Amino acid sequence: MIGDKKVLYSAMQATGGLHIGNYFGALHNWVNLSDEYECFFAVADLHALTIRREPAELRKSARDVLMMYMAAGLDPEKNCLYYQSSVPAHAELAWIMGCFTYLGELNRMTQFKDKSAKHADNINAGLLTYPVLMACDILLYQADAVPVGDDQRQHLELTRDIAERFNGIYGDVFTIPEAYIGKTGARIMSLADPSKKMSKSDENQNSVVYVLDDKDTIIRKFKRAITDSDTSIVYREDKPGIMNLMDIYSVASGKSIEEIEREFDQKGYGEFKLAVGETVADVLAPIRERFEQLSKDKAYVDSIIKNNGEKAAYFAEKTLRKVQKKIGLPERIR
Ligand code: TRP
Repeated sequence: MIGDKKVLYSAMQATGGLHIGNYFGALHNWVNLSDEYECFFAVADLHALTIRREPAELRKSARDVLMMYMAAGLDPEKNCLYYQSSVPAHAELAWIMGCFTYLGELNRMTQFKDKSAKHADNINAGLLTYPVLMACDILLYQADAVPVGDDQRQHLELTRDIAERFNGIYGDVFTIPEAYIGKTGARIMSLADPSKKMSKSDENQNSVVYVLDDKDTIIRKFKRAITDSDTSIVYREDKPGIMNLMDIYSVASGKSIEEIEREFDQKGYGEFKLAVGETVADVLAPIRERFEQLSKDKAYVDSIIKNNGEKAAYFAEKTLRKVQKKIGLPERIR
């Protein structure tokens, strides 16, 4: 608890441009959570290092994610928006908690297995210990709730296991976090292959719609979206392409699937795809505009990075000090 509010924590990796999967799946649902929770949203720039990055590109990606948080409507006065690397406590606690995590647990993580298979030439230790750092992100702020997608659930489970293990030895040091169960984000699939999640690393860039794409690009990508040889716009398992477009249209317009089926009864795929493209473009336009304004206001963004980084550090340090004391490390000299 901070004051009378529960704490909510989430983060996104700093990896290039955000797409509508990131936006509708997460960011979009984070706005307004600060009414109920004390919210921390980090840019996980340390996590981003598990893949080799160009320094300039990493710097830009991280800043873009932070500006995107703000452009999407997260008020930096009400939400703590910060760089993970601004708060050294993350890396410090990660060492300590790594000593309370078993190799077997880390080896079992499906994301580790997937990523190792994908990056066989760079299976670094960071890839393996990634979930420990993620656990520390969460535990440092004594978070009660963590909104995560399906792919991060296993990491959250591990976080709980490590925290319970630690608490079992040293007393109640950490709050045990739970998955946030509120309005969950939509799961947006690739426009070229609806069996795969939308991903910025997709070779076919027409399959990914970026938040910063312009209207014409967005409409063009939706026009090319893979569908099927049927013609009706109905939500059915054997029509995964249409289901995906309906999901996207539903989150972008706020209409239910039934309403959409009625709206496009007797209408063709062409008309439907255009409506999806236009609606998505309309939702994203103001975000793009705010993002562009923020890009020009360097001093303002810098001040947010500094103030919010300091605020995050204040809470993180409190937990880290407690942990250090409990396990028998000497008092800090500064
Ligand atoms: N690993 C998360 C992802 O790739 C990002 C992340 C880092 C995160 N730290 C976190 C998510 C803490 C929730 C809580 O999506």
